[in-house]
Amino acid sequence: MKVALTGSIAYDYLMSFPGHFKEHILADKLESISLSFLVDKMVKRRGGIGPNIGYTMALLGGDPILFSTVGQDFDEYRSWLEDKGVDTSGVRVIEDDFTASFFATTDRDNSQISSFYPGAMSYAADVKISDWKGEKIDLIVVSPTDPAAMNLYIDEASELDIPYLYDPSQQTVRLSGADLRKGVEGAYGLFVNDYEFGLIEKHAELSIDDIQNLVEILVITKGDQGSLIYVDGKEILIPVVPPDKIIDPTGVGDAFRGGFLTGMSYDLDLELCGKIGALAAAYCLETDGPQSHSYTKDEFIHRFRQHFDDQGKLEILL
Ligand SMILES: Nc1ncnc2c1ncn2[C@@H]1O[C@H](COP(=O)(O)OP(=O)(O)OP(=O)(O)O)[C@@H](O)[C@H]1O
Ligand SMILES: [Mg+2]
Repeated sequence: MKVALTGSIAYDYLMSFPGHFKEHILADKLESISLSFLVDKMVKRRGGIGPNIGYTMALLGGDPILFSTVGQDFDEYRSWLEDKGVDTSGVRVIEDDFTASFFATTDRDNSQISSFYPGAMSYAADVKISDWKGEKIDLIVVSPTDPAAMNLYIDEASELDIPYLYDPSQQTVRLSGADLRKGVEGAYGLFVNDYEFGLIEKHAELSIDDIQNLVEILVITKGDQGSLIYVDGKEILIPVVPPDKIIDPTGVGDAFRGGFLTGMSYDLDLELCGKIGALAAAYCLETDGPQSHSYTKDEFIHRFRQHFDDQGKLEILL
């Protein structure tokens, strides 16, 4: 099953300042702030929602294709993704700009000063799925990116008659109540965390009952409390897989989605999809960064069976 992932593609530049910002902020000179921090550590990480979800899907043998825009600095990221099995043929390069970039400096108190440059992501709405000449797309995932592009993909899904999962995540705060309502109304499924679900209820003025009536599948994730799947009037609780250690939560929601979507690709029942998502999320928590975890399908299945009974169904991944 070919799954189109439309979320952002970005780099994160993460720096550490071995001091305290607050000691350098002069209350009587706020009109002329001029600060430069010599940092002692920097990492550049591949991130963005589309590739994060696609990375986990590829590890598990799914068939993801990215649709988005990137800048002149994308070559090494493209090779990395293609090597792992993520199709980047729907990604367009904007030659005179850079891939969306997040720059954050953290000090010893964990205070953070950061900037996000959307760069090429601002052109995301120029990439139309209907222009793509490849294989048939079976499912579209509308994830955070430029808000105009998110609205475009909702319209395209309906024009092309392809079901879509609505995954507004961080952009829930940027979309209007009307946008959110439209996104939910046309969706095959809605994927959100608990907080985002509350925002949708408030701004789109939809109750949980309304939403269950509108979508086939509703998935609400609740961090270390696991997740809930609402389907056919039933509520299925998916417990977490306890991580061996928690190194970094960045990308945990995306890894969960990657696992869930791979389960859906193989037509596995939704409870099993949720459990695959839970284990994929645990792996992500155990490493630094959203695409640093790695496992073979055999290792994944072996660990899965220490927590859940798949009745042999995960053999299909092999
Ligand atoms: N501390 C944890 N221990 C085990 N599993 C976890 C933990 N935190 C998250 N998960 C797993 O990941 C899933 C998604 O987590 P969460 O609800 O925090 O997503 P999110 O808020 O969208 O995360 P993100 O910060 O990536 O946006 C959970 O349903 C759970 O299965
Ligand atoms: Mg999230």
